[in-house]
Amino acid sequence: MRSYSLIAFAKINLYLEILGDRPDGYHELVMVMQSVDLADRIDLRANGTDTIRIYCNHPQVPNDNTNLAYQAAELMSQQFSDAFARYGAVDIAIHKQIPVGAGLAGGSANAAAVLVGLDMIWKLGLTQSEIQELAAQLGSDIPFCVSGGTALATGRGEKLATLPDLDHLYVVLAKYRGLWVATPWAYKMYRQIFSESYLRDPDDLESRLRQVHSGPMIAAIAQRDSRQIGQLLHNDLEKVVLPEYPKVARLREAFQRTATLGTMMSGSGPTVFALAESQAQAQQIKEQVGHAIADPDLELWVTKFNQCGLQVAEG
Ligand code: C5P
Repeated sequence: MRSYSLIAFAKINLYLEILGDRPDGYHELVMVMQSVDLADRIDLRANGTDTIRIYCNHPQVPNDNTNLAYQAAELMSQQFSDAFARYGAVDIAIHKQIPVGAGLAGGSANAAAVLVGLDMIWKLGLTQSEIQELAAQLGSDIPFCVSGGTALATGRGEKLATLPDLDHLYVVLAKYRGLWVATPWAYKMYRQIFSESYLRDPDDLESRLRQVHSGPMIAAIAQRDSRQIGQLLHNDLEKVVLPEYPKVARLREAFQRTATLGTMMSGSGPTVFALAESQAQAQQIKEQVGHAIADPDLELWVTKFNQCGLQVAEG
């Protein structure tokens, strides 16, 4: 087949701890990532030319080579020049549902879909870890988006260990339409304020990683203990984003006043999420927060934890 449609799911961070600096300028992280069933659809079609073309229905998403999905196709064409010469380039159409600049890895999920889709269109037969190695060259969250589900991510975010599925939980997501946060800004601010406390000794880094791995969040996930998971949500980037964006801090407080299992900002924000045990509870939380904030710029979604990052669309 010369065309595929893929569903690319958003992610939230149940846990994000910044351990220290890396020689490559990135941060050493330990994160628990979770796919949620808010998704974009990516249509890929071999176009018989040597030009990658990209279209998106969202005005804020670039239709050029600055788009991560375009860069994914470009990387594939460089790495697999024989297949590119034989089958040609692709048209990429992105149907956006995941909000942009939200801390939900929407752009990363789109790029992951292009890597997997081109592997199929060009009949390359790559393994998941081969695709994830390519993904890591494009961005820190993209390897997770290839596999998805529930995972512990370390290093830059590209080293993944699968965790047991938590498919029983619901999530309310909330984001102000006109507000977005640049991830490099959030990490830069964090470094400016907190670099004194960074772990520098490799043994200390190793030991902190082991502590998290055998710590309460991973144990709560293994036991599918929803209450504990809700209480152990953590994100270091809240320390820089919430003071700079008081609207986000107020949104988080509004969630805290509901019957949620726990609430937290996702990634570098500004999306705030709240966990719920049932769809009815999630719906109630959504209504309560929508009522408390009553701002037409606020968008809210009820979603569910998802067991994968990508899916080939039916039909
Ligand atoms: O890898 P990605 O392009 O998604 O990262 C976006 C930005 O986030 C980087 O430019 C960097 O400023 C910051 N970052 C970081 N350490 C990480 C991941 C991201 O400092 N592990």
